[in-house]
Amino acid sequence: MRSGGDAGHARRMTDIALAAKERQTWWATGFALIYDTTLRPGEVFGMSRRRSELLREARGRTLEIGAGTGLNVPHYPKDVTELILTEPDPSMYRKLRRRAAGRATVVAAPAERLPFADGSVDTVVSTLVLCTVSEPRATLGEIRRVLRPGGRLLLIEHVRAHGRVLAGVQRLLRGPWASFARGCRCDQETEEILRAAGFETDLRPARWRAMPPVVAPLVVGRAVPTPAP
Ligand SMILES: C[S@@+](CC[C@H](N)C(=O)[O-])C[C@H]1O[C@@H](n2cnc3c(N)ncnc32)[C@H](O)[C@@H]1O
Repeated sequence: MRSGGDAGHARRMTDIALAAKERQTWWATGFALIYDTTLRPGEVFGMSRRRSELLREARGRTLEIGAGTGLNVPHYPKDVTELILTEPDPSMYRKLRRRAAGRATVVAAPAERLPFADGSVDTVVSTLVLCTVSEPRATLGEIRRVLRPGGRLLLIEHVRAHGRVLAGVQRLLRGPWASFARGCRCDQETEEILRAAGFETDLRPARWRAMPPVVAPLVVGRAVPTPAP
């Protein structure tokens, strides 16, 4: 996150996300309906492979936040002993239940309030979610709380561009994009937010191909909570 005015920036971004979600309950249904089709080109041109490569690292009791329609479900390896998928949006949740039937437990819950015990999870997964949660810091606090010592957060997130031109375009399109994508902040500074929340990160940059340029810059990898001082 930017230094100076951090709190104000975070508040504005939260307002954008909340306003977009609250204004458009009718669009929630439509968005869930078109979600897989809209993401399809990106999945074909690399995202599906990327999900698979990352999720190979999932181990033990694994909790996915904001699981959406369940695009990660086919990619979980056998080392995952229990899979729990959480999703707060009722339209997404219905699709998720169908896709995950017999493979995972599906729980309707926002990432800011995870209904799981402290230190009860080995792996947390977040793909394209930290841009959309209403309260990223609260979400990371919850992830820290539920992870066992030695547990890891695996993530694929689209982020603010490094280049000034694309970052400028992201800033211009922030509002319309959030309206379209149900509160998604196209220029979320996720790596900075992770560090500010006390996570050590091992992330590499990547590109989400065949998708709109405002969400093309990705970070992929893992983060671990640093011990509280
Ligand atoms: C862009 S979709 C990503 C879905 C899925 N993870 C994927 O990789 O395709 C963002 C998801 O985050 C969910 N979401 C929105 N607000 C959330 C919150 N506060 N906590 C958890 N998930 C949230 C949305 O309902 C949606 O399913």
